[in-house]
Amino acid sequence: MTTALVTGGTSGIGAAFARALAGRGDDLVLVARDAGRLAEMATELTAAHGVDVEVMSADLGDRDDVQRVANRLASTEQPVDLLVNNAGFGVPYALTNADTTPHEHAIDVMIRAVLVLGGAAGRTMKARGGGTIINVSSTAGFVTMGGYSAIKAWVTVYSEGLANELRGTGVQVTALCPGWVRTEFHQRADIKTSKIPDQLWLDAERLVSDCLTDVERHKVISIPSKRYQALILAARLAPRTAIRAVSRKLSSGRH
Ligand SMILES: NC(=O)c1ccc[n+]([C@@H]2O[C@H](COP(=O)([O-])OP(=O)(O)OC[C@H]3O[C@@H](n4cnc5c(N)ncnc54)[C@H](OP(=O)(O)O)[C@@H]3O)[C@@H](O)[C@H]2O)c1
Repeated sequence: MTTALVTGGTSGIGAAFARALAGRGDDLVLVARDAGRLAEMATELTAAHGVDVEVMSADLGDRDDVQRVANRLASTEQPVDLLVNNAGFGVPYALTNADTTPHEHAIDVMIRAVLVLGGAAGRTMKARGGGTIINVSSTAGFVTMGGYSAIKAWVTVYSEGLANELRGTGVQVTALCPGWVRTEFHQRADIKTSKIPDQLWLDAERLVSDCLTDVERHKVISIPSKRYQALILAARLAPRTAIRAVSRKLSSGRH
């Protein structure tokens, strides 16, 4: 029996992970803030797949809540075999904003919580001799679109560091770097999507299925879709001046 803990498992990419993992028979622990949506998701997954679903209503911007989730990951009586560090959101604020609170909140949820939960899972899984940690990063981490890119660059590099640290222990670490995926993400951050070409949108189910295949192949960085793999290869080879110019273009008129 495998148990997977998915943060942000009630919507978008996290919900697609929850459905895919329940579909292969994994029991689940779902974490998000909205208790009503958590209960709905648990009912849906148990009815469809007969798996056990535990829910934890937690705000990953709150240190006590993050510690509660970390304690669940550290449990030896009810072990968690797979962590999906997925909860996150867009950060549509200028870096020069006088009020840095929204940036600090984004850092708490998408960096601090990922660090604390990844560490708790890594320690426990290492002691057990196996497990998997998937950190949902973004292709935005390869360009320079404000605070969000900086956060996701951290998530990708952090995942590579954690993978190195846990090498040889049986614990697999993978950073999933999606391109644009139709979820609640853009609406929640008030990001205009009308200029994004249809070919660049990824399907959440396919994204998750490709990521789980990459995990089986022990890939540390998973970039689903040939199109995005080609774009990111070009971005890695391009001079940073070109990356900054493309990022300015992509950022303009988004809000
Ligand atoms: N969609 C894209 O184009 C795209 C592309 C690349 C990467 N990503 C990344 O994919 C991940 C998932 O995003 P999504 O597109 O699936 O967005 P989404 O549909 O808006 O889902 C976000 C999930 O995170 C949870 N969440 C948000 N803030 C939270 C908090 N403070 N504490 C606990 N849970 C919280 C939400 O539940 P509650 O609101 O109930 O808490 C929800 O379940 C994020 O890390 C995002 O950066 C998305």
